[in-house]
Amino acid sequence: MVGWLVRSKAATWLASPHGRVTESALRNAVAGKTVLVTGASFGLGEATARRLGAAGAKVLLVARTRDKLDAVAAAITAAGGHAEAYPVDLTNTADVDDLVKTVLDKHGHVDVLVSNAGKSIRRSIARSYDRFHDFERTMGINYFGPVKLMLGLLPSMRERKQGHIVNVSTVGVRVPPGPRWAAYQASKGAFDIFFRSAAFELAADNVSTTSVYMALIRTRMSAPTRIFEYVPGMTAEEAAELVCAAIVHKPSKISPWWAGAVEAVDAVTRVPWQWTVGQVYRAGRR
Ligand SMILES: NC(=O)c1ccc[n+]([C@@H]2O[C@H](COP(=O)([O-])OP(=O)(O)OC[C@H]3O[C@@H](n4cnc5c(N)ncnc54)[C@H](OP(=O)(O)O)[C@@H]3O)[C@@H](O)[C@H]2O)c1
Repeated sequence: MVGWLVRSKAATWLASPHGRVTESALRNAVAGKTVLVTGASFGLGEATARRLGAAGAKVLLVARTRDKLDAVAAAITAAGGHAEAYPVDLTNTADVDDLVKTVLDKHGHVDVLVSNAGKSIRRSIARSYDRFHDFERTMGINYFGPVKLMLGLLPSMRERKQGHIVNVSTVGVRVPPGPRWAAYQASKGAFDIFFRSAAFELAADNVSTTSVYMALIRTRMSAPTRIFEYVPGMTAEEAAELVCAAIVHKPSKISPWWAGAVEAVDAVTRVPWQWTVGQVYRAGRR
């Protein structure tokens, strides 16, 4: 019963209020355009790449898993689209330099960058005392990697006075993050702040930005967290609709409708809320 409820249309609406983007609107926005999608080998990035490929974009697929990228590219191509696989570890700055050079040499520019690659870690502070590398790894892929890629692609976008960048963020950076997510949420928050600050400078050169604050998406990232089975969530394809809406409509942000209300409530109830949640996660339940 609970499972049926959290997978119902109403639950999807709770996770995301935005409807479908029509095929024609997406095609008008991306046909013939060069769109680079990071994290295109699995989950939301794969679903987004497939949708963009079907709408006529030249999709550049970036992630580490070469076989999976090749398979996604082959599926897009077989369906009549255009896709190219770029196996790259975005935490390696030299590899990001090479990626930028290769892409710009071949395509001249990127019209749309979907910064989606990411990694989550769910671990309590008590279990992280000897795991500083968790914090380095999440910052590497969720902050430094996307910053490095943006720095590489921005000069050509700004020179052309044309470009759009979508940051796939999490609603957790807007609402109280909850215990065990410190490494992940801090790294996503770092890029969110970088991105929103950069947006002011980029707007002057007609480079637009959209932060998409995703609620739960049922992917391999969220699968290990058992409690998420009881939380309303989206499929990767439903979440890809939001990325496509970002590309078509170019709003500054897309967010679940309830995020603003939760932020406001958090402002006045943070201390009692932290105390309550803290009781649940007391020693012995870490
Ligand atoms: N799932 C959720 O509930 C949820 C909620 C809010 C926000 N998000 C955000 O949504 C985005 C997509 O997540 P997802 O749920 O689709 O997860 P996913 O299925 O695990 O996909 C993550 C993608 O990132 C790529 N990636 C990871 N490390 C990389 C690296 N060092 N270099 C290059 N690519 C790398 C992965 O490919 P390889 O392993 O092949 O490199 C994969 O394609 C993330 O930014 C995540 O923070 C997810």
